[in-house]
Amino acid sequence: GDDTRIARISSAIRVIPDFPKPGILFQDITTLLLDPRAFRDTIDLFVERYKNKNISVVAGIEARGFIFGPPIALAIGAKFVPMRKPKKLPGEVISEEYSLEYGKDVMEMHVGAVQAGERALIVDDLIATGGTLCAAIRLLGNVENFNFYINMRSGFACLHIIFTTHPNKGDLFHDHY
Ligand code: PRP
Repeated sequence: GDDTRIARISSAIRVIPDFPKPGILFQDITTLLLDPRAFRDTIDLFVERYKNKNISVVAGIEARGFIFGPPIALAIGAKFVPMRKPKKLPGEVISEEYSLEYGKDVMEMHVGAVQAGERALIVDDLIATGGTLCAAIRLLGNVENFNFYINMRSGFACLHIIFTTHPNKGDLFHDHY
């Protein structure tokens, strides 16, 4: 069942203290990727939850969202849209700045990758302050008629997160394992 799979996934994620700096407990998903069954279970859990939900876009956040997003997109029949660090995408982009613990960063998405009224799923490996995820949501918010709200707690860590936006109803659903 789900609990068995989640336990296997959880134990396949390596926790490394003090990386990349003192005080951070780094959640290393590369060990999960070394375990084909745990990796498969991870993708399956999300596919089971999001198939048949009329989702046409899976937006993956660089870098770990590029690992988990595409297999989910293929399995649910959605397109994959990368959300990238600045100056990586060759076409016309829209950008959103966000705060890091020290300083700022920028995330970019290709103009035209997402159309008004589409339903999107945002995929990343984890949420810490939520700054990265908020920037991803704002990027989708630049798409005409793509409206939603967010009610988010900060300082909340989890294994994987997926947010679905429901443009027409103005809802945002927050999911995590
Ligand atoms: C990590 C993680 C999330 C983000 C979460 O990425 O994969 O994208 O931090 O942090 P936040 O909720 O405080 O914004 P990282 O900054 O390590 O970038 P990378 O994936 O490109 O290495």
